[in-house]
Amino acid sequence: MKGIILHGGHGTRLKPLTHTGPKQLLPIGNKAMSQYALEDLKTAGITEIGIIIGDVFPEKVKEYYGDGSKFGVKLSYIYQDAPKGIAHAVKLCKKFIGNEKFIVYLGDNVLRKNLIEYTKKFKISESDAMVLLCEVEEPERFGIAELDKGNSNKIKKILEKPKNHPSNLAVIGIYFLTPKIFDIIDNLKPSWRNEFEITDALDMLIKNGDSVEYDIITGWWKDTGTPEDIIHANKLILDSIGTQDQFLINVDSKIKDQIIIGKNTSISPESIIIGPVIIGDNCIIDSTKIGPYASIGDNCIIKKCKIESSIVMSDCKINTEIEIQDSIIANGSEIESMKVQKKCQFLIGERTHIKI
Ligand code: G1P
Repeated sequence: MKGIILHGGHGTRLKPLTHTGPKQLLPIGNKAMSQYALEDLKTAGITEIGIIIGDVFPEKVKEYYGDGSKFGVKLSYIYQDAPKGIAHAVKLCKKFIGNEKFIVYLGDNVLRKNLIEYTKKFKISESDAMVLLCEVEEPERFGIAELDKGNSNKIKKILEKPKNHPSNLAVIGIYFLTPKIFDIIDNLKPSWRNEFEITDALDMLIKNGDSVEYDIITGWWKDTGTPEDIIHANKLILDSIGTQDQFLINVDSKIKDQIIIGKNTSISPESIIIGPVIIGDNCIIDSTKIGPYASIGDNCIIKKCKIESSIVMSDCKINTEIEIQDSIIANGSEIESMKVQKKCQFLIGERTHIKI
């Protein structure tokens, strides 16, 4: 089987963070969001992976992943000229996929459980597609499945962001497909949002009498469309530190009390770190309280402040008595303040300098 990771899209709801890079490279738990997808595919035994890139900083994606050897996979890049939808992106992979079954993974989806069992199941299945479902609170934000009551593991209908939803089972952004989908996509029409929807393609498969099976996932799944989603995903990922299923740590750092501290990072005795927390390499942490639920990137200098439930990316400087909560502070930013600031919330893009 081969894998496809979707790495396009404008990330409009994540501005200003996406002014300087694709949303899928934003870090969660100090690791690019789409790297979780890549590692999930790899753990499931899939090492030939195509990454779909578009016009949103494709060079940054190539620079990060290269030929894949650093990550133990073989990567090909496939170019999508405009964000015309998931089904359109899948169609571009026809040649790359050839005659094999394959998995399409949206690079902004993060899944708690790995894909090993689902992949095994689909490999031996006779079905033409398999989707993973997850109960959600806002069904109007997702593709929604109606189950076939007469046939326990089949789906009757799939609808994209329906107003009247037949269930609250969302189709998550990990699709198990066969080359049969390519002919279906050829016959698709653009949707109301002018995209070729994978949900429409799957629904057409069902209408053609082909079988689409499903599994309901256990554990959490996150589609990270908004800053709040990213802060929440960061919490969920940090929660796994020190557990048996911890899946984000690829450094040889010491882990204690759900705290990971990178190499050459110094923490002054006056500082307090409350896990779950991850702090990158080469940081200086002085007289600061960090955590719970904070991810601090590499090369940061952080003094005198409190940071909770936030992501501070690499090369940031915060040297002031300030309480930072529920914030995302992008690479190379600096925050200064003349007086003590309580409970501040920031969403700031790269290399921003804030003086309060
Ligand atoms: C896409 C799919 C939707 C699916 C979701 C999962 O939505 O169209 O069916 O439920 O991904 O993340 P989009 O992110 O394009 O709104």
